[in-house]
Amino acid sequence: MEHLLAALRAVAEPTRLRLVVLCARGELTVSELTQILGQSQPRVSRHLKLLCEAGLLDRFREGSWVFYRLRQSSPAGALTRQLVAACIDQSREMLAVARVNLERAGLENGLVRLGDMYRLALADASFDAVVIHQVLHYADRPAAVIAEAARVLRSGGILVLVDFAPHSLEFLRDEHAHRRLGFADSEVAEWCGAAGLDPAPAHHLAGDPLTVVIWTAQRHAAARLRTAGDVRTEIPDAVFERELR
Ligand SMILES: C[S@@+](CC[C@H](N)C(=O)[O-])C[C@H]1O[C@@H](n2cnc3c(N)ncnc32)[C@H](O)[C@@H]1O
Repeated sequence: MEHLLAALRAVAEPTRLRLVVLCARGELTVSELTQILGQSQPRVSRHLKLLCEAGLLDRFREGSWVFYRLRQSSPAGALTRQLVAACIDQSREMLAVARVNLERAGLENGLVRLGDMYRLALADASFDAVVIHQVLHYADRPAAVIAEAARVLRSGGILVLVDFAPHSLEFLRDEHAHRRLGFADSEVAEWCGAAGLDPAPAHHLAGDPLTVVIWTAQRHAAARLRTAGDVRTEIPDAVFERELR
């Protein structure tokens, strides 16, 4: 009871709740967290100290860097997992994490953009490669996501799709908002084919209980693809909007 109340008090503040969600995504330093949240370092440090004292985060040193991460085994662990899985919009946080990772890797030409995978604000045939990494299992219409990726690929461009093979971990639906419990090679191949892509044999990275699969497919050189524009002209706009929502 004591621990739970301390944990609840600690996260009952917007910045601290965001810090918990961010640290659940990876190990981050104070300066990275400061950069992501756009707040001063002393302020972020004060919040981090409180979260550590409440047993929600761990602080650990590696060389001259100090990292913060979610405490793995603590009485408040179940609460933290629920908070992280709750309907908190994480996409902006994920983009901020991606920016930090790009910077860490020195990839200065990398740009990060917020967008909807069903309707990318990107021109037709404008990319050499599209990677959809551990995102498709959130989709209620995976075939539409693949078709939209195909739309922005140039002729000969490659789609790389990384997700899970079929599994039966139902808790991923309840606790992590997964909609699909993995994908069969045959259905991915079918969706790729329908989108004008030639699927290559899949690579299975066997794991227990989750097997990760890497599917690749190449956009036909000559095929005339259905583009988002085609769909819009075939279906009245209002219906299209409803479909997308
Ligand atoms: C498990 S994360 C993977 C993030 C990243 N691809 C990676 O591998 O680190 C799943 C991501 O899917 C994103 N996502 C879910 N639905 C989406 C949608 N309709 N459009 C764009 N992104 C979406 C979430 O915002 C989240 O960042």
